Amino acid sequence: MDLRLSDEHRMIRDMAREFAQKEIAPIAAHCDETGEFPYETVRKMGAQGFMGIEVPEEYGGAGMDTLAYVLALEEISKVDAAHGVIMSVNNSLYCYGILRYGNEEQKQRYLRPVASGQLIGAYALTEPQSGSDAGNIRTTATLSPDGSCYVINGTKSWISSGPAAKYIVLFAQSDPEAQPRHRGVSAFIIDTDEPGFHRGKTEPKLGIRASATCEIHLEDYRCPVERRLGQEGEGFKIAMSVLDAGRIGIAAQALGIAEAAYEAAVAYAREREAFGQKIGEFQMIQQKIADMKCRIEASRLLIYQAALAKEESKQTGRRYTLESSMAKLFASETAMWVTTQAIQIHGGMGYSKELPIERYFRDAKVTEIYEGTSEIQRMVIARLELGLR
Ligand code: CAA
Repeated sequence: MDLRLSDEHRMIRDMAREFAQKEIAPIAAHCDETGEFPYETVRKMGAQGFMGIEVPEEYGGAGMDTLAYVLALEEISKVDAAHGVIMSVNNSLYCYGILRYGNEEQKQRYLRPVASGQLIGAYALTEPQSGSDAGNIRTTATLSPDGSCYVINGTKSWISSGPAAKYIVLFAQSDPEAQPRHRGVSAFIIDTDEPGFHRGKTEPKLGIRASATCEIHLEDYRCPVERRLGQEGEGFKIAMSVLDAGRIGIAAQALGIAEAAYEAAVAYAREREAFGQKIGEFQMIQQKIADMKCRIEASRLLIYQAALAKEESKQTGRRYTLESSMAKLFASETAMWVTTQAIQIHGGMGYSKELPIERYFRDAKVTEIYEGTSEIQRMVIARLELGLR
């Protein structure tokens, strides 16, 4: 694995770092406090090319590679993880799905405006009864008698960017008789301005509070057949392969959060004095700093490895599920652990809302939950290693 960054990679990383410092840092605490969706900065992120980094320019994106995506997402998340997840969902869960499985017309109509950041995209898999057990979908999609559209009914929950999205890639059962059930799932592109689409309650969340998350309800929503993504019955595989990409994004988000907490902890340990010396001179603090640094750098290697595996898969078609799950598992648990240690090093100040450390801690938690819990990642990794799938 060649870890040297090219000039192009360094350029996008520096661009994202500068953008995050200039545009996001001044509003991050306010967004967290109010939970307001940051439409204005997201629009500016689109203008910089951050909302469709891997999408070719002909479809409105920046035409760069997975490593470029990861580097930019890490920098944005380091300043604000809520902006990070909005970017990740748009790039990985929406754009990547349409880029990989959409036909030319779908790419022109539904990818271009979202990859360029003019509109926001989302992904709807989860339902009230099916989080980890994603194949247990009850939302139905019934082909109309004239075959022109699917009539969709059901409820989706925990939809990140749901309140802001214009288009959503949504999964529903189009063949309730299929065995196993996941082979009856199909994917659809939903226009949220059409009749039959309703937004439900917005979730009051512990962290990433500015990234709006809501329930959605479909009541006799008519989706034209031209907006089915991929073949009938191919939906579950689309959902899973899109999550392979998405999990690399969440890993990069977690890395950004961990780095922010780590840098704050190092600065504090250099300044703060106790018992007549800097606290960084105490071995118990040094042990924490050393372990934080090692886990962060190990996360980075797993994430960059997953990014390279995804890039390679564009040529070979080889699945990178293992690399992606390992990166997501390790980076998210690192983010949770590092932010916990960062609070401990800061003592009372770490617990105060005057500093962003407690925000990093709250934001880190969700990375162990969404896009597959740590338990699911361990299951995926172990099944692949044991040859059970
Ligand atoms: N790529 C392509 N196909 C895949 C795949 C992948 N990564 N993983 C599985 N498949 C295929 C299998 O080959 C199998 O195909 P066949 O029908 O040909 O046999 C089929 O999918 C079913 O696979 P499994 O038998 O492994 O399915 P399972 O029911 O045991 O579940 C699971 C697998 C890994 C547990 C899956 O349900 C899962 O990932 N659950 C977690 C769900 C999740 O991550 N949700 C996130 C919601 S989105 C979100 O969180 C976004 C956000 O807010 C930011």
